[in-house]
Amino acid sequence: MIGGKTQVLGVIGHPVGHTSSPAMQNAAIAALGLDYVYAAFPVRPEDLSQAIAGIRALNFRGLNVTVPHKVGVMPLLDEISPEARAIGAVNTIDHREGRLIGHNTDAFGVMQSLRLDGGLETLPARVALLGAGGAARAILYGLLQRPEVEHLALLNRTPEKAAALAADLDPDGRRVFPGALDEKAGELLHQAGLLINATAIGMSPHPDASPLPDPSCLHAGMVVLDIVYNPLETLLLRQARQAGARPVDGLGMLARQGARAFALWTGVEPPVEVMRAAALERLGKSSP
Ligand code: ATR
Repeated sequence: MIGGKTQVLGVIGHPVGHTSSPAMQNAAIAALGLDYVYAAFPVRPEDLSQAIAGIRALNFRGLNVTVPHKVGVMPLLDEISPEARAIGAVNTIDHREGRLIGHNTDAFGVMQSLRLDGGLETLPARVALLGAGGAARAILYGLLQRPEVEHLALLNRTPEKAAALAADLDPDGRRVFPGALDEKAGELLHQAGLLINATAIGMSPHPDASPLPDPSCLHAGMVVLDIVYNPLETLLLRQARQAGARPVDGLGMLARQGARAFALWTGVEPPVEVMRAAALERLGKSSP
């Protein structure tokens, strides 16, 4: 029950109507019986600074931040975590003792998902990461925190963007090897023990697309994580399953980045399975 002491959480974005965060977060709040509520707030870019001032004025406990505000929100906050600073984007605001602290929980979410959903206690020495946008950047940051990753192929339709991202996060060029995502990448992909799709390829309404030029690079012993979760089993994950590789869907990462935000705000570890199930149910309702 919402009462006089209920603490307010939410997500700001534009548009924000399709987000599964309210379903996930409210499911966790209900499961734990905590006195919080989580809502979605559509905020136009020109209103962003007023929305942030509103967190302070209305004493919201915290917010998630989604497209298009993840970068624009940074100068409006009092503090940015080292992780969010390196990733260059904020997806969670923690309102603590009058200060607004920006975090990014995406790298944590993907690393937890690789460990707990993909069974990778340690990562393979060779990894292939597809994409060079905001999602790829957070994942690359997470992967580079792990010393066992020795060779990271960063492949993108536009190779210049992969090169720029690699130079930014691995300035010595010792571990990240940028290139084009084309037929010539087959051998590099084949050598990877972990393949991550951080592009939007395969997402509804184009579920018949795969980011791989040729699926024959997939093999048993490989873990394949797709950040796309609509459909839950993308063509890439189906190809991975058929090749004997271990598929990991994008809902684990989504639930785990949300769980990390929840723990920051409430101080309580939420039930990730409850959050995942709520997101899955929401997805079923929002599909055509
Ligand atoms: P996000 O924040 O979700 O990562 P983004 O920053 O727009 O979104 O990045 C989208 C990524 O998906 C990019 O790597 C993009 O490739 P380009 O840099 O070449 O644009 C990739 N991508 C999206 N649609 C694609 C398509 N149809 N084919 C190949 N790559 C695609």
